[in-house]
Amino acid sequence: MKIMVVGSGGREHALVWKLAQSPHVVRMWCAPGNAGITQERLVKNRALVEPVAITSGDLPELLTFARENKVDLTVVGPDNPLGLGIVDLFQKNNLRIWGPNQKAAQFETSKAFAREFMEKYGIPTPRSATFELAEQAQDFAASLGGRCAVKADGLALGKGVVLCRGVADADRAIEDILVRRRFGAAGGKIVIQELLEGIEISLHALCDGKTAKLFPASQDHKQALDGDRGLNTGGMGAYSPVPFLRESQADEIGKKILGPWLLGCASEGVDFRGILYPGVMLTKDGPKVLELNARFGDPETQVYLTQLESDLVEVLEASLDGTLGEGTLTWSPMVSICVVMASGGYPDLYAKGKTITGLEEAAQMPNTKIFHAGTVNAGERVLTDGGRVLGVTAWGEDLKKARDAAYRAVHKIHFDGAEFRHDIAAKGL
Ligand code: AMP
Ligand code: GLY
Repeated sequence: MKIMVVGSGGREHALVWKLAQSPHVVRMWCAPGNAGITQERLVKNRALVEPVAITSGDLPELLTFARENKVDLTVVGPDNPLGLGIVDLFQKNNLRIWGPNQKAAQFETSKAFAREFMEKYGIPTPRSATFELAEQAQDFAASLGGRCAVKADGLALGKGVVLCRGVADADRAIEDILVRRRFGAAGGKIVIQELLEGIEISLHALCDGKTAKLFPASQDHKQALDGDRGLNTGGMGAYSPVPFLRESQADEIGKKILGPWLLGCASEGVDFRGILYPGVMLTKDGPKVLELNARFGDPETQVYLTQLESDLVEVLEASLDGTLGEGTLTWSPMVSICVVMASGGYPDLYAKGKTITGLEEAAQMPNTKIFHAGTVNAGERVLTDGGRVLGVTAWGEDLKKARDAAYRAVHKIHFDGAEFRHDIAAKGL
């Protein structure tokens, strides 16, 4: 079959890499892709994955391409096209596409929708409220003693959140987002949440409209700097499974969230076929959902897809066809970790166009895969082209071995201003 993957980050490279291993695939495109994606070859016929110069938000062009090239299955990586309704558009045109439709994607595209849904169906979540007026928002923040998370309601690439530990902090964050529009239009409405203390994990569940299959738990590292300091980013590194949760504990947490979520979807007529990715805080009062995403996490995907043994094409087809309940997902016993290498300055301003060296040497290392995110080809060279540049991923029998392997590979790779966290998975060791 012929597959098109939509997106250009590390998550999409991992999706392409894993899909390319399926014997069902004879041709694959990625729109728009990156320098690493277009080096991947299909296992079936050694054909290279082909780039398509269409951005992930250009729905009409993606539709035309899929039609003209008779794409059998389109796989959507990022939230933006899902929020714009790419799934609805393709389905209306009788094209097969994997990902939640626009209504289902609202769990991610509107924090207010997600919060109301969670409250209505009893999914444990922090106390919170939605505001359009700064003064009311500030009053609510004050009632929490200023200990709160201030969030832009719309999509802000995982960066539209400010954590506050006092009233002055909270007042400033509310002004910044709601009045000064620091995150642009996404900040026209804000959600204020009680600040939770605990360990944060990422859950992923593959859904088919009625069943949800939980993945092993993983942990992301959102802040830019070691020790969880600095600005929130899209994610600086991840690993899975997390050693501080037994499988039975993870299942229990999954049930507490996914049970009521599935019931809610059924009674609200939400047909969710895709990945539900709850960000969960393990607090002393039990697990609480910080946010719901409607797509694969980045860099969680890089970790998960180096562990998944099942054929990803078959798995996604089961998600589309409503037959997930008939099979099981098979996972390798290995632990995987991904360390993100980013451009100096990310998530604020950063330079692009820096030459990356050492990629080939790093790629030769055992149990290692270098996923590209913000990279572009320039003749023989590979240049940086985004904030998150590479997702250096490695696996091993235990977390320490996997982590050592990933950092060995990181130290082989160089570009001007490269930044990475030195403490990915430290909480798991
Ligand atoms: P979000 O985009 O809502 O996932 O928020 C980004 C990050 O901010 C999360 O991954 C958490 O690390 C942190 N965060 C968000 N909400 C809260 C909260 N209510 N309490 C503590 N930390 C939070
Ligand atoms: N890992 C963070 C995200 O994908 O939103």
